Amino acid sequence: MIELKEVHSYYGHSHILHGVNLQVKKGQCVALLGRNGAGKTTTIHSIAGLVVPKEGTIQFKDKELVGRTPNHISKAGVGLVPQGRRVFPSLTVKENLLIAERKSISSEKQWTIEEVYQLFPILKEREENMGNELSGGQQQMLAIGRALLLNPDFLLMDEPSEGLAPVIIEQIKNIILDVKKTGLSMLIVEQNIDLACCVADEVIILNKGEVVWQGLPAELLHNDELLKVHLGV
Ligand SMILES: Nc1ncnc2c1ncn2[C@@H]1O[C@H](COP(=O)(O)OP(=O)(O)OP(=O)(O)O)[C@@H](O)[C@H]1O
Ligand SMILES: [Mg+2]
Repeated sequence: MIELKEVHSYYGHSHILHGVNLQVKKGQCVALLGRNGAGKTTTIHSIAGLVVPKEGTIQFKDKELVGRTPNHISKAGVGLVPQGRRVFPSLTVKENLLIAERKSISSEKQWTIEEVYQLFPILKEREENMGNELSGGQQQMLAIGRALLLNPDFLLMDEPSEGLAPVIIEQIKNIILDVKKTGLSMLIVEQNIDLACCVADEVIILNKGEVVWQGLPAELLHNDELLKVHLGV
């Protein structure tokens, strides 16, 4: 589905990604873990076209994404749930969803607003509320719903659990599992290791802009050294 080879990304002269290699297969959910500043968001932004890699290739469904605009990459089928959620504060829940709705030529699944409401019944209840009147968990649901309405084939999620209470994180986890069941391929950046290991088929650890470990969630959970050195737990 998507393959990054030797991706090098910069902010100005700061060299952030030092040859990142990773792959997400069709229907697979991969979690990208690492400490603050490891380069997780930069990796996601490099895929979404918000940062343009200076070297390396990103092949998505046999097309090269490096050098394409974010708009083109989105239309090619890459969805993004950004870090910090970014819902429109002065639009209602319904308006936030309506502006995202789009027919897709590529993806098999065509999401409707009603289906998003089935996944998140609370959004239906609050459809006339403004984005800034929602709780953090509800905003996260809205951000995911909006990304789904763009009918992506591949979904990037940047720290969906950030700043949320444990009971809400549990809900978000179940929602990610539901979305995964639709067959959508996903790359999820997380600092919450339990959530990541529960939803992911494979885990990748990034440190200082390099992939330092890759394996099964169960292998990570049993590797105390790895957890301590790269994830600080
Ligand atoms: N716009 C920017 N300009 C300059 N440097 C940046 C910019 N954004 C991020 N960086 C730097 O790039 C490095 C990687 O940042 P990135 O946001 O990718 O990390 P992250 O793994 O997502 O961290 P976090 O867990 O805090 O979200 C950090 O050292 C950060 O300070
Ligand atoms: Mg980040």
